[in-house]
Amino acid sequence: MEIEVASGSASGSGSASVSNDGGGGGNDLEKGVQYLHGGEKGVAYLVWEDLTVVLPNFGHGPTKRLLHGLSGYAVPGRIMAIMGPSGSGKSTLLDSLAGRLSRNVVMTGNVLLNGKKRRLEYGVAAYVTQEDVLLGTLTVRETITYSAHLRLPTAMTREEINGVVEGTITEMGLQDCADRMIGNWHLRGVSGGEKKRLSIALEILVRPRLLFLDEPTSGLDSAAAFSVIQTLKNVSRDGRTVISSIHQPSSEVFTLFDDLFLLSGGEPVYFGEAKTAVKFFAEAGFPCPSRRNPSDHFLRCINSDFDIVTATLRGSQRLRETTQKASDPFMNLTTTEIKSMLVEKYKRSEYALKARLRIREISTIQGPEIETRSGSQADWWKQLSTLTRRSFVNMSRDVGYYWSRIVIYILVSLCVGTLFYDVGTSYSAILARGACGGFVTGFMTFMSIGGFPSFIEDMKVFYRERLNGHYGVAVFILSNFFSSFPFLVSVSLVTGTITYWMVKFRPGFSHYTYFCLNLFGCIAVVESCMMIVASLVPNFLMGIIAGAGVLGIMMMTAGFFRLLPDLPKAVWRYPVSYISYGAWSLQGAYKNDMLGLVFDPLVPGDPKLTGEDVIKNLFRLSLDHSKWWDLFAVYVILISYRLIFFIILKLKEKASPFFRSLYAKRTLYYLSKRPSFKKKPSFPSKMHHNLHPLSSQEGLCSPST
Ligand SMILES: Nc1ncnc2c1ncn2[C@@H]1O[C@H](COP(=O)(O)OP(=O)(O)OP(=O)(O)O)[C@@H](O)[C@H]1O
Ligand SMILES: [Mg+2]
Repeated sequence: MEIEVASGSASGSGSASVSNDGGGGGNDLEKGVQYLHGGEKGVAYLVWEDLTVVLPNFGHGPTKRLLHGLSGYAVPGRIMAIMGPSGSGKSTLLDSLAGRLSRNVVMTGNVLLNGKKRRLEYGVAAYVTQEDVLLGTLTVRETITYSAHLRLPTAMTREEINGVVEGTITEMGLQDCADRMIGNWHLRGVSGGEKKRLSIALEILVRPRLLFLDEPTSGLDSAAAFSVIQTLKNVSRDGRTVISSIHQPSSEVFTLFDDLFLLSGGEPVYFGEAKTAVKFFAEAGFPCPSRRNPSDHFLRCINSDFDIVTATLRGSQRLRETTQKASDPFMNLTTTEIKSMLVEKYKRSEYALKARLRIREISTIQGPEIETRSGSQADWWKQLSTLTRRSFVNMSRDVGYYWSRIVIYILVSLCVGTLFYDVGTSYSAILARGACGGFVTGFMTFMSIGGFPSFIEDMKVFYRERLNGHYGVAVFILSNFFSSFPFLVSVSLVTGTITYWMVKFRPGFSHYTYFCLNLFGCIAVVESCMMIVASLVPNFLMGIIAGAGVLGIMMMTAGFFRLLPDLPKAVWRYPVSYISYGAWSLQGAYKNDMLGLVFDPLVPGDPKLTGEDVIKNLFRLSLDHSKWWDLFAVYVILISYRLIFFIILKLKEKASPFFRSLYAKRTLYYLSKRPSFKKKPSFPSKMHHNLHPLSSQEGLCSPST
């Protein structure tokens, strides 16, 4: 399946053509959106009740509550802002709702989607995380185009898909950087804000029914932030449910939000319509000054970090304080106290009551069931071909993936070739051939570990896209194999040809072919082994260490450093030498090279040594199976490793919810036995806080003013 990336020239200067030529991109975008509406009917009503997240410490210090019994709802057609100071639990709340909490925390409470309790994973919801995980070698337009082909319905034509892509580029204001590379470790690419907009573009492309965004405007100027939130508002107007955390929006941006969830220290300060928040603050005694941005005012009231700022400013303002003290009854309030008052006031307010009633009402709405794999509407084949193409483009542009390895392989092959040049058939050549075979099947293949860092980056993108339901595990593994195939063949052919002809191994085309096939098998096995390591140890340095250790063991038991029959029977001979690709490939390499050759004897005049004698008596290998069986075993190991990789990824998906719930049960049982684990009073004792007068904070009005 051919994929044509909508290039600027093809579409008539990209974005401009979309906006100016109303019949082109714009219409296609509408058509695309209509497709999506038609293809996936259904809306998402999300309700969360008494959501508590704790970080258990199991006896090492107090257990920390990250979220304190939050309740709320999000409905289609509306966009909700989660606001609060840094560390207040915005990301934790989003993670809890999206079912993506990290393993070390435990969540209690209910999250209901359309009245049903279910896990929101793998495509039910789209989530734009705080961190941008993208393939740095692709351009912005390519990234969106591949993503569109991966997920938009197969029935859509290429022109329609390109229309959606161009429309999305324009919507997110990415026209200027559309043909620029995203950038990676060796290539400076688009800016942080552009990356963020691209991440959002990738998710809004298919108009997901439930969209979570973690600080989508960080790194953007206020005009860009406004247009991003305006786009999200348009998405929500299509009947989508949008929940976004946001740090400190400008007043223009704030007015775009329909609902507001204000958090402080994991506690709800306000939940309800965004425009009534100002009223709530006024009713609670903290009205927003007329010329102040409401979101600034809210955060000023609840961010206890301002107490520290105030303490610093206090000295210089002492005089003003004393004059104001007499008239201001709230003179001695700290933001910690203001926050606690607001929390208490909110709990007893009509807003909380209204929210509770609405939650009860929405909980009973039995909306349509949302299929799990709704992240993509493209068929399996289209996903596979698109992903293979994207992966191939990435591999061919990433210098670190294969190109640098090919260069190193050529250099090392030349070294081996010159070191063992025309090795011959003298008696000393027997050991030289053995050593050369051992080096090529062992150390040369070991160098394939070099692609690990690039593969780790691939895996990060896979995890992000997998969680958003873009495609499945099998598609990822197969596409990776198909796209890497030409590179692996090139590495094996180049290395095999140089080494084989320079060293002058056993002549004959079939022997040369065997040599290259054996090399290909070994390099592919090493790659597969590193994939398994990457799935278990997804850290670059730890992964390299672990992978090198495993491969080192395989080399040790290959039969070169210690002959196979001499290996200790327990563990090393059985099973390690049987599951080590090195043992099979080395046996095959020896047979391929030596069978049929005749070597000079140690003492001149003695009978000549045949290759069979050398293999049987010197290397003590059995000749009861042919070299092709050895090659077959290497390929069986290769397939087994890929299967193991697949099983690990699948198991991680399937088993992790089970282990998470076990861990949660165990933790809750442990916590229930601790008398200290009871609800913290939301109105803190004055003993634990330094008091800094509210009025010493610039512009913050106390209730009486
Ligand atoms: N898995 C975790 N393990 C330990 N602590 C955690 C974990 N997740 C969150 N926290 C803590 O919970 C608090 C809330 O974190 P969270 O990331 O939700 O804050 P935030 O409101 O998103 O902040 P920011 O605006 O800086 O992104 C922080 O103090 C954080 O250190
Ligand atoms: Mg955060």
